[in-house]
Amino acid sequence: MRELVIKVLENAPLTPNVFKMKFELPEKVEGLACGRFVNISTGDGGHLLRRPIAICEYTPDTVTICYQIKGEGTRIMSRVRPGETLSCVLPLGNGFALKEEEKKVALIGGGVGVFPMVSVLREYAGSGKNFFSYIGFRDKDAVCMEKVFKANSDRCAIVTDDGSYGEKTNAVAAFFADFEKAKPDVILSCGPVPMLRALKSGLCERGIKVPCFVSLEERMGCGIGACLVCVCHKTGGAENVRVCKDGPVFEIKEVEI
Ligand SMILES: Cc1cc2nc3c(=O)[nH]c(=O)nc-3n(C[C@H](O)[C@H](O)[C@H](O)COP(=O)(O)OP(=O)(O)OC[C@H]3O[C@@H](n4cnc5c(N)ncnc54)[C@H](O)[C@@H]3O)c2cc1C
Ligand code: FES
Repeated sequence: MRELVIKVLENAPLTPNVFKMKFELPEKVEGLACGRFVNISTGDGGHLLRRPIAICEYTPDTVTICYQIKGEGTRIMSRVRPGETLSCVLPLGNGFALKEEEKKVALIGGGVGVFPMVSVLREYAGSGKNFFSYIGFRDKDAVCMEKVFKANSDRCAIVTDDGSYGEKTNAVAAFFADFEKAKPDVILSCGPVPMLRALKSGLCERGIKVPCFVSLEERMGCGIGACLVCVCHKTGGAENVRVCKDGPVFEIKEVEI
């Protein structure tokens, strides 16, 4: 994990409400990996806490993140211009790791949860794995990264809640509708809490024992395991985990969602 001053190369809208920011790393950074995240200053002169954003793509010299404008911090970030610098701590968290024997991989992403799924596709491109992607957005205006999913997946469903693009359904329902055909060896997912809850209960109701890993989003303070702002309960409720340090990726049965 490093704290670095990074130079913004691009910061432009991907959809009306989501920006893609690519930045240059000033030095080699060990451990960049899919599902891990960065904690980035917003560019307001340091008044606000850093914001946690998933790594979407990376090369040895650059990292790309995609963020939705939600509140004050991300709005300020969207005004940062190419050439400006920001402070960034990276890489944080544990990320997704696929085992050699996990050949058929289901990716279920909703809303801004699609970006960690893109990072998985990018990292494992050419590895001989078969990806089945079930990607959901609120409506047509929110649809993004379609080309990446279609180009890198054996099967791909892009769906919307209102049916304005693709089938009118959600990513979890699309996954369960295709489950018997896909028969994945492992399931990876990231999205809003109701989506992850539906995934957990759907797996349980159907008795599906396929390993399933989810990336959780919690409000964060330090991002490095010290402040306990991000704790969530382990299943059973007796123990806590820190989403920033012990996660954000957990086996779905391990945590309460
Ligand atoms: C591990 C991780 C990865 C994430 N990856 C992405 C991503 O790739 N793209 C994306 O658009 N968003 C992502 N988020 C959510 C993103 O961090 C929040 O949307 C963002 O912090 C909101 O900041 P704000 O100042 O605009 O909003 P405000 O609501 O004004 O923020 C107020 C405070 O709440 C915190 N906060 C608000 N919403 C969230 C949230 N959902 N998760 C964590 N903290 C929150 C902020 O950090 C800030 O401290 C991720 C969150 C986590 C924990
Ligand atoms: S954000 Fe401080 S412990 Fe997780």
